[in-house]
Amino acid sequence: MVVRRPLGGLPEACCPWAIGYVIVRATEEGIALKIVVLGDVHGNLPALEVALREARAEGYDVLCHTGDLVGYAPFPDETVALLKAERIPGVRGNLDENVAAAADGSGSCATEAQVRVFEEKAFAWTVQRTERLTLEYLRNLPFERRLEAGGRRALLVHANPIDMYTGLWEERDEDYFREMGDASEADVIIFGHTHRPYHRIVDGRHFVNAGSVGFPADGDPRTCYAVIQTNGNVEAQYRRFPYNVDHLLKTAAERRFPAEAALFFKREA
Ligand SMILES: [Fe+2]
Repeated sequence: MVVRRPLGGLPEACCPWAIGYVIVRATEEGIALKIVVLGDVHGNLPALEVALREARAEGYDVLCHTGDLVGYAPFPDETVALLKAERIPGVRGNLDENVAAAADGSGSCATEAQVRVFEEKAFAWTVQRTERLTLEYLRNLPFERRLEAGGRRALLVHANPIDMYTGLWEERDEDYFREMGDASEADVIIFGHTHRPYHRIVDGRHFVNAGSVGFPADGDPRTCYAVIQTNGNVEAQYRRFPYNVDHLLKTAAERRFPAEAALFFKREA
């Protein structure tokens, strides 16, 4: 029997990714499981609110995030508070770890110099402005979560199955994906970090990059989330929605967030 219900808001015991490895007994092989993945939110509350609203409207069995909850937009505490209140399970990203540790740098994987400069300034702002309870929450996020459903083993990580810093770019060769796939001990690897959504299949293993809710890097400035459906096959789709960028930039100015934000948060491509 399939139980279709949103998991956000339920007690942790009901949520398959609330703890390390739980088998979802409500599904059987061949029966669809719908997973909505919120990729790197990065402190962008207006984008997260829209993504959550739309995800609820379309429905899901599992809702989760890939980490990097803070870092590049002026709402670190509000973003974490919302995900915490909604009990949305997820994993720890490099930004989560480095902000919590007040590290010297963010561990960004941005390739453009201008983006890196902004990201490091935004990181420094976030380290200074984030509340202790938020830091505690970020520090305690797990490295990975596992889910078994419909005969498939799924792994949720931030960047790749081995570390939270090395981007798993779509252009890498098949051998690299094979190595990552073997390390994952999973059939479906769900991750983010590069902010570029894609679904690549190597040797029957599915690699699904969820993209980024709060700071997309694929040329489309709208918020993004991934929808993964297992039903014998594994399918991934991406949803895109506009959000209130003016609210973000107004708050950025009020909170003395790095002014370069205006260059990177845009209403349209
Ligand atoms: Fe990241």
